[in-house]
Amino acid sequence: MGKIISLLNHKGGVGKTTSVINIGAGMVELGLKVLLIDLDPQANLTLSLGVPRQKYSIYEAIKGECELVPFTVRERFDIVPSTLDLSGAEMELVNEAGREYILRELFEPVIEDYDFIIIDCPPSLGLLTLNALTCSDYVYIPLQTEFLALQGLTKIKQVIDKVKFRLNKKLEIGGVIATMYDARKVLNRDVVQTIHKYFGEKVFKTLIRDNVALAEAPAQRCDIFAYNSKSNGAQDYLALCKEILERVEVEA
Ligand SMILES: Nc1ncnc2c1ncn2[C@@H]1O[C@H](COP(=O)(O)OP(=O)(O)OP(=O)(O)O)[C@@H](O)[C@H]1O
Ligand SMILES: [Mg+2]
Repeated sequence: MGKIISLLNHKGGVGKTTSVINIGAGMVELGLKVLLIDLDPQANLTLSLGVPRQKYSIYEAIKGECELVPFTVRERFDIVPSTLDLSGAEMELVNEAGREYILRELFEPVIEDYDFIIIDCPPSLGLLTLNALTCSDYVYIPLQTEFLALQGLTKIKQVIDKVKFRLNKKLEIGGVIATMYDARKVLNRDVVQTIHKYFGEKVFKTLIRDNVALAEAPAQRCDIFAYNSKSNGAQDYLALCKEILERVEVEA
């Protein structure tokens, strides 16, 4: 049965989407089958992988108009795309009974088909994010190794705790990913230390370095392994995937 992972941080631009794409692609490199879910109305994940406009996106599925319709990026690598329409979903579902469970229900028929389902959350803590947390085994928090990295984290922890208590007992913070790390910068090193103090063992040992190839790949509509498999970005995300697999196995 596939594991469901949400990448969450309500702070914008910390590396959620980049991590979803490249953890996903890294797992595919390791021979696994992966489904990515673009749950962000900005549709950055969809655009970054060059998915052409589809008849059915996550929006129609969430509205109950269709089942999940994955688009195949390449062998063993699927994505359910998003569109800007999704920005209306939170309002449109406000009176829907069981509205936090919509995504969980949508995953039921496909969960056996994948090793990992990885969800790209929007930079907010609204209904879409609640849906992601309600169906996830793990939430991973990417943190940019810059000033204010930890600001607002109390709020994220509160939301996770509430979801765990009320909606999804199995939910765990599965890991914290330090992103855009530059070892030459004292500030970056200091922030990594602070992150370790706050999250302890949860922090992945792999640091995702600041690497221009990671920013260039989306412009070529591809993941880092397709763009430049020798880049630091590819090495880091592959190392992170191996670490994730170890953790998931230990916990199983
Ligand atoms: N390790 C990295 N090195 C260099 N650039 C990076 C790295 N990770 C992400 N970026 C770049 O930083 C920007 C923000 O990253 P990304 O879109 O993944 O963040 P996000 O948390 O998904 O943002 P949002 O909250 O808007 O959805 C992007 O332009 C991305 O290409
Ligand atoms: Mg994003």
